[in-house]
Amino acid sequence: MAWRVPLAEIDFDEAESRAVLDVLERRWLTMGPVTERFEAAFAEALGVRHAVAVSSGTAALHLACLAIGVGPGDEVIVPSLTFVATANAIIYCGATPVFADVTSDADWTVSPSDIEQKITPRTAAIVVMHYGGYPCDMAAILDAASRRGIPVIEDCAHAPLARLDGRALGTFGAAGCFSFYTNKNLAVGEGGMLVANDGAVAEFARRTRCHGMSSDCYQRHCGAHPLYDVVGLGYNYRLDEIHAALGLVQLGKLERNNARRAAIAAQYRARLDGLEGATMPFAQPRGEPVHHIAPVFLDEGVDRAACMGALHAQGIQTSVHYTPVHLFQYYRERFGCTEGMLPTTERIGRQEVTLPLHPLLTADAVDDVVGALAEACGGARRERSEASVIGG
Ligand SMILES: Cc1ncc(COP(=O)(O)O)c(C=O)c1O
Repeated sequence: MAWRVPLAEIDFDEAESRAVLDVLERRWLTMGPVTERFEAAFAEALGVRHAVAVSSGTAALHLACLAIGVGPGDEVIVPSLTFVATANAIIYCGATPVFADVTSDADWTVSPSDIEQKITPRTAAIVVMHYGGYPCDMAAILDAASRRGIPVIEDCAHAPLARLDGRALGTFGAAGCFSFYTNKNLAVGEGGMLVANDGAVAEFARRTRCHGMSSDCYQRHCGAHPLYDVVGLGYNYRLDEIHAALGLVQLGKLERNNARRAAIAAQYRARLDGLEGATMPFAQPRGEPVHHIAPVFLDEGVDRAACMGALHAQGIQTSVHYTPVHLFQYYRERFGCTEGMLPTTERIGRQEVTLPLHPLLTADAVDDVVGALAEACGGARRERSEASVIGG
């Protein structure tokens, strides 16, 4: 379906096309000098010592968990209100995800007090996720973690260049993990980045993204010696030059596009203020968020499916962020997760709707979406109350 107002749009122009053509003309396609330039520029933008480009945000999360030694028998605390990859990366290492609730109906980042309650002698790490580009309460989380010597990993898939207390997100914990998936603030199709200040974490990630080899393909291509050793179990988690070239151009646009997102989010907030049936969370965010998505919370009385259906009928695309991970069949069956474990997460999981938000969205389109939502909330409420009257 061609949406009249799509959820996300890519801000690509001739600069991205030219960058890709340059790579094709240079005739070296896998990880090489363009990837190195992307890493250096990303590290500089964040003010972090090391940036390691990888094939996806999921790969970055997996490498981060491995780098800090997460393994079989360990528990790792993680929010459930996230994309499933955040928790899957823990399972790849043979560890068990332990889900923590979010803070409140207004702050959908993971709750530091619930994290504290879930810490056990087996807790090997805490993975936080900066939901929607809104910073978690890092001071409280790092305090709880450091008192017990537990490393923290930041899933920054929604949060490139978001800041808190003057520091970029991704630089607070042992590692920060970014995704450059097609709908992200920095989009290349498929790609990711692991950042760290600790050289050992970065070195581990560099080696392990390339089969655990003692030299990478470009080093061997440039050097006289084709031999290498394999010093640990590795994966093929390399980024390639085409995606790195797209990443460099997109990185150059990121500040501007994040500012556009902030303006659109502010417009949504102003228009939704006082609207019956729907509220925007994060009225008082910490730090400087980067507004990856525009989530709204529908009142319990509003039928979400009917509301989304009404928007879709008008060509307005919506989504849900997220169905809580602990309620997916695999997680229920394998880890015995049940409904009722995380009340706030589950309430949000039932009543959240994500509205369109991207740097190319116009002010008129935002008004259009809010008008349609207002109508849909009223309609969905009426239909539900009529249905309940009919049902007795
Ligand atoms: C919160 C979150 N974590 C992790 C990922 C995984 O990133 P990728 O799709 O690049 O593997 C995504 C994105 O898709 C995400 O939104």
